[in-house]
Amino acid sequence: MYTAIAISSPNIAFIKYWGDRDPLLHIPASGSISMNLDGLYSRTQVTFDPSLAADQLTLNGHTTTGAQLVRVSNLLERVRQIAGLRQYASVASNNNFPMGAGIASSASAFAALSLAASTAAGLSLNESELSRLARTGSGSACRSIPAGFVEWQAGDSDASSYGFSIAPPDYWDLIDCIAIVSQMHKPTGSSEGHTLADSSPLQAARLEGAARRLELCRKAILERDFALLTEVVEQDCNLMHAVMMTSAPPLLYWQPATLAVMHAVVDWRQDGLPVCYTIDAGPNVHVLCPSQHTSQVTDRLPKIPGVERILTAHPGGAARLLESPISAPQFTDP
Ligand code: PMV
Repeated sequence: MYTAIAISSPNIAFIKYWGDRDPLLHIPASGSISMNLDGLYSRTQVTFDPSLAADQLTLNGHTTTGAQLVRVSNLLERVRQIAGLRQYASVASNNNFPMGAGIASSASAFAALSLAASTAAGLSLNESELSRLARTGSGSACRSIPAGFVEWQAGDSDASSYGFSIAPPDYWDLIDCIAIVSQMHKPTGSSEGHTLADSSPLQAARLEGAARRLELCRKAILERDFALLTEVVEQDCNLMHAVMMTSAPPLLYWQPATLAVMHAVVDWRQDGLPVCYTIDAGPNVHVLCPSQHTSQVTDRLPKIPGVERILTAHPGGAARLLESPISAPQFTDP
């Protein structure tokens, strides 16, 4: 039996991935940029076991079958092909944060799965190979393999579409204060959402400006320019949600509390607090600020009606193997 354990953090996209050029391989319609979220983790153990008759998946302690097992099995199949291995695997994965609510649990889950499965299969893939493998499970997972602030170059093939670090975690101490307004599973997941992007008349306009926004976001990070980051991050978020809202069928991820947090952030900024918002495919709002302003944001957010809970995260590191399970962080079933 060959076994390995890996942990990986989710990431928050500053410039979003929404829509595929190749839906099977998850080659995106445009490039994206994100920040890994330290302290939030998926921890995944993969064991290739000659006695198994099929792959098995346990998620947060529950045996899981159906579509989630198929997605995991597809990635394991890729690993088996690369490694020339025939054994099935058991996979046990735990998250220490709520799943399916706009904190990209699929990103950290598939990044950790890629590292643990390839290691257990005896492969030692380099960072871009791992990122490409993770991308085939969930597009945004390719950004959870490298450390810190990560760009996913769209590319036009499996070989050219992967994430790489543009700045390490300690380059800029930003904080993501995540305002949880709902922990329910979202009705339409991002896999289905990507297939709807082209049905919006706004997607073409969104894609036309994507390279420019990518460049401005990269510049904002490299120059630690929070005003520029605010401008480009909020515009990119609003463009993606405009596409979502105008696709057929329309996707409305916002709840009343989502909008209340967005308004509050804009008001605080007008009063001089450097702060901006971004939202993935869910109702929760990621409120970003330079770390010296964290307490001002975390004191105010819970006072907004509908905000249930706040999670905070500094920029996080790369996906990594755990030498000893004992050093693993504590995981609770959310
Ligand atoms: O990787 P997916 O298929 O879960 O898509 C992620 C989509 C967004 O979170 C909305 C945007 C992004 O770039 O992370």
